[in-house]
Amino acid sequence: MLSTLRPQVSAITNSSKKSATEKMQAICELLKENVPYYDWVGFYFRNGDKEELKLGPYAGAPTDHTIIPFGKGICGQVAVSNQNFVVPDVKAQDNYIACSITVKAEIVVPLFLNGVNIGQIDIDSNTPDPFSEEDEHFLEYVNQEVSKIL
Ligand code: SME
Repeated sequence: MLSTLRPQVSAITNSSKKSATEKMQAICELLKENVPYYDWVGFYFRNGDKEELKLGPYAGAPTDHTIIPFGKGICGQVAVSNQNFVVPDVKAQDNYIACSITVKAEIVVPLFLNGVNIGQIDIDSNTPDPFSEEDEHFLEYVNQEVSKIL
């Protein structure tokens, strides 16, 4: 199911009319609308040369967490680990920033530009333990496509 979305992601990144921000916004909406267990989809990017992440385009409920210090929460940990972080049960995490009480699980995949971790894609799910390696590979693909337009 996720593999069928890959060409649609590439069609968005390759389209000539939109800005990079608009393309990322369209990708967030595509993913949220087409993957039943993706309930919030957003990009965070390093905020200049500060040790913090800033919220970029997203689809889903607005969040108070528009700035996240490096090391804080799942997102902040990925900013320093450079590794995918799959959380099957957010209640089992002690370094976690809750955005909504309905969220059960989360996946964060870093976004690299020229080998440097410059941000990430973050997905929240209201379904317990929904993510597999297929999600990791798909989101790595999404980030690679996005890195080409940054
Ligand atoms: N839960 C994240 C915070 C961002 S929200 O999910 C949108 C975290 O622990 O880093």
